[in-house]
Amino acid sequence: MQGFWEKLPKPFFAVAPMANVTDAAFRRMFAKYGKPDVMWTEFVSADGLVKRNREVLVRDLAYTEGERPIVAQFFTATPASMEEAARLAEELGFDGIDINMGCPDRSVEKQGAGAKLMLKPDLALEIIAAAKRGAPNTPISVKTRLGYNKDILETWLPILLSAEPAAITVHARTRKEMSLVPARWERVKRAVEIRNEVGSKTLILGNGDVRDLADAHAKAAESGADAVMIGRAIFGKPWFFAGAAESRLLPVRDFSAEKSLSPRAVALRGQESTDFPPEAKEKVLEQMVWPEGGLKAAEGEPRTFAKEAFSEALPLETRLRIAVEHAKLYEELLGDIKSFAMMKKHFKAYVEGFPGARELRAELMETSSAAEVEQIIERFLAVRYT
Ligand SMILES: Cc1cc2nc3c(=O)[nH]c(=O)nc-3n(C[C@H](O)[C@H](O)[C@H](O)COP(=O)(O)O)c2cc1C
Repeated sequence: MQGFWEKLPKPFFAVAPMANVTDAAFRRMFAKYGKPDVMWTEFVSADGLVKRNREVLVRDLAYTEGERPIVAQFFTATPASMEEAARLAEELGFDGIDINMGCPDRSVEKQGAGAKLMLKPDLALEIIAAAKRGAPNTPISVKTRLGYNKDILETWLPILLSAEPAAITVHARTRKEMSLVPARWERVKRAVEIRNEVGSKTLILGNGDVRDLADAHAKAAESGADAVMIGRAIFGKPWFFAGAAESRLLPVRDFSAEKSLSPRAVALRGQESTDFPPEAKEKVLEQMVWPEGGLKAAEGEPRTFAKEAFSEALPLETRLRIAVEHAKLYEELLGDIKSFAMMKKHFKAYVEGFPGARELRAELMETSSAAEVEQIIERFLAVRYT
């Protein structure tokens, strides 16, 4: 079954599942500031869920309505666990269920799960079948790589397609390559060709090294992928997907060659040095979604969908206050089960590219509560803007 997947526009954009990153707080921030077309949870151990840690792991599956459509990702090498986890995910109302068949993490592989399933195609198929049994009314998808030690896309993809998942995400590297070599998007293109050759309806999502929305558009156009999944580039940018809907209506251009800022971005940058009260935040974000000269440009005129208009041009004060909001939400939602130290990778991403960033980052690395983060950032802003 295709479920929500068939209603998505093309190309669509998804948040990559990332352990200790795409948690409830992170997803809510994205739902507020720039919703992707598909949201993913962190991966959750199906074995842990059905055996040991149900109470704690169920917290990883908490989501809000604003995050829909949302897909729960599980890893396991045991079909019975997958069936049970899928049943639970369906009960919890997830829009989709994804099976991890690409994770190189040692603890996951030790269980025979994640990337190891690429070496055991029969088991991989059993696990997909088990998920379908457990959640007959929820679409099942798979996230995988090109192969384990070598690229086996030509044989591995048809095997997965034979199980008729609603979607397959292809992280365009082998397990052996980890993230050490550039993603091979020409292999995503090949994945689309294979899908078409076998006449499958399964959607293909390409993944790996996408820098921004413009880059995502270019890679979708080059590869023919139905969608692009983005991971590391969204760190510290909850507004990353703002403007995605509008950008789909614009002609595809090779944005990678464009270095100069759009006039709108320049104007917004100018605001950095002027007064910028927090209550104006929403208004600016509204403007970000509708960049001047964007959709409304007359036929034949050059239209500007500059990546800067959506992220880099966001006034520094707004960016830093969003970081504080993120820290507060993390503490509120997850403070009792997760270490505040997890927020530090987000601070690194929020606090970069401006004078004084290094010192501010160093201070934030020492914090252990959202209140401390707020105090440090407010002090920084007070000095900067007085
Ligand atoms: C911190 C981190 C955690 C990750 N956790 C998961 C995970 O839980 N499940 C998964 O399928 N992939 C996971 N990945 C892989 C990403 O989903 C994605 O495939 C990879 O980062 C490549 O995409 P990117 O170049 O856009 O980051 C993780 C990656 C990172 C950086």
